[in-house]
Amino acid sequence: MPHSTWLVTGASSGFGKSLALQALAAGFKVIATTRDVAKAQAEVPDFAARGGTWLGLDPGSEDAFEQFSKVSQEYGGIDVLVNNAGYAFIVRDQMNVNFYGPLRTVKACLPAMRSKGSGHIVLISSGAGFIARPGRSTYSASKFAIEAAHESLSYEVRPLGIKVLIVEPGAFRTPFSSRIRTPAQHEATGGYSKAYKDTPVGAMIQVMAAMRGPLPSAVKGDPEKAATAIIRAVVDGHDDYLRLPLGTDSVLALEDKIGQLQSDLEKTRAVCTAMDVD
Ligand SMILES: NC(=O)c1ccc[n+]([C@@H]2O[C@H](COP(=O)([O-])OP(=O)(O)OC[C@H]3O[C@@H](n4cnc5c(N)ncnc54)[C@H](OP(=O)(O)O)[C@@H]3O)[C@@H](O)[C@H]2O)c1
Repeated sequence: MPHSTWLVTGASSGFGKSLALQALAAGFKVIATTRDVAKAQAEVPDFAARGGTWLGLDPGSEDAFEQFSKVSQEYGGIDVLVNNAGYAFIVRDQMNVNFYGPLRTVKACLPAMRSKGSGHIVLISSGAGFIARPGRSTYSASKFAIEAAHESLSYEVRPLGIKVLIVEPGAFRTPFSSRIRTPAQHEATGGYSKAYKDTPVGAMIQVMAAMRGPLPSAVKGDPEKAATAIIRAVVDGHDDYLRLPLGTDSVLALEDKIGQLQSDLEKTRAVCTAMDVD
């Protein structure tokens, strides 16, 4: 079976939890990683009873490559790796989790995929992996960076029978936004210097602060539907696309960004194409 063993990181909640449960229900073997197995068991009490396996692993830890390599060997190779664990946003450590974390797990799972001549690597990125909104620079930097690595990877491993899928969700109803961490030294000022108060930075920080309470109705994405779409893309194949934006908000934002890129090119084409030596 080409997609038989799935490994999902950060699976105790949100997209990871939905994906792990749906992959299990679809008949696949599912290894779910979490930083805290006891908490994960409490969050998803029937996961083990349904045949799932919890492993206490953190892709953000320095020895994650060694730990995930052992897992890949123990289970005879991972067929579908889902790099899901991640958080936001104004903290240096998120680069370690959102960027280096997936690099470690990919490096650990690739050797077995190469030997089998098959495999699937799924990155749960974000619309923020293509668009950098004001006030979200470091989160976007982590997602842009890991998207670049996966885009490059997709060309490298395609001839070896391994596929890569980059998922770019918009706003979905998971605990993600309630877990946003900001540097403690900025809390007293609301997270930004006074000069930004009436600028897009101030507006964005206010939106983010509001997200820590009950989810606003503007956040419409259903993580169960996202999990179904991701599993379908893996199982049915996606030979003609690399990115899967999920949610109307993500699609519209991507279209807007593509329009901006096109407009920049049109405005600068004459200068940009006049650079060859005379
Ligand atoms: N929800 C959205 O609107 C949205 C939109 C775009 C992209 N995303 C992306 O979707 C992915 C999953 O997020 P989610 O929405 O499902 O949120 P979530 O419910 O908070 O799940 C995130 C998972 O990542 C793991 N994680 C969180 N902080 C971590 C840290 N510091 N170190 C290591 N692992 C950590 C946690 O796993 P354990 O506690 O089990 O270890 C957690 O289950 C993330 O990569 C996020 O960037 C979410």
